[in-house]
Amino acid sequence: MIGRLNHVGIAVPSIEEAKATYRDLYGVPESAITETRELAAQGVKFAFVNVANSQIELIEPLGPDSPIARFIERNPRGAQHHICFEVPDIYVARDEMVVRGAKVLNEPRIGAHGTPIIFVDPKNSNGVLIELMETPKAVRG
Ligand code: CO
Repeated sequence: MIGRLNHVGIAVPSIEEAKATYRDLYGVPESAITETRELAAQGVKFAFVNVANSQIELIEPLGPDSPIARFIERNPRGAQHHICFEVPDIYVARDEMVVRGAKVLNEPRIGAHGTPIIFVDPKNSNGVLIELMETPKAVRG
């Protein structure tokens, strides 16, 4: 069974503008918003907005070849992209999902939190792209 909801992923055309939305409209203090980093291997920039019980993961395409570039073309102002649940072991989770008939979209790879992740086809989950992420072993950051 899946564990806690780790984050909600929002794809945006500009992380800096999205940060301003959470800061200025929703009152999130600057100290709860991380700096923007690049995950070149996955073609995205990302930053986290920490809220009381979870995180918002802001993702922005690094370039026109980014896997989320088309998503932004279809949603030019940004949109919810995925939600992420923690699992204790990503390989066990991957194998269980396959046995249950789900389509796992990638081999486990290191995600923005530094722990391995997989994505499950939205067709298996009521149209929602689901990320499963191995629970970080260290302190959450
Ligand atoms: Co994510």
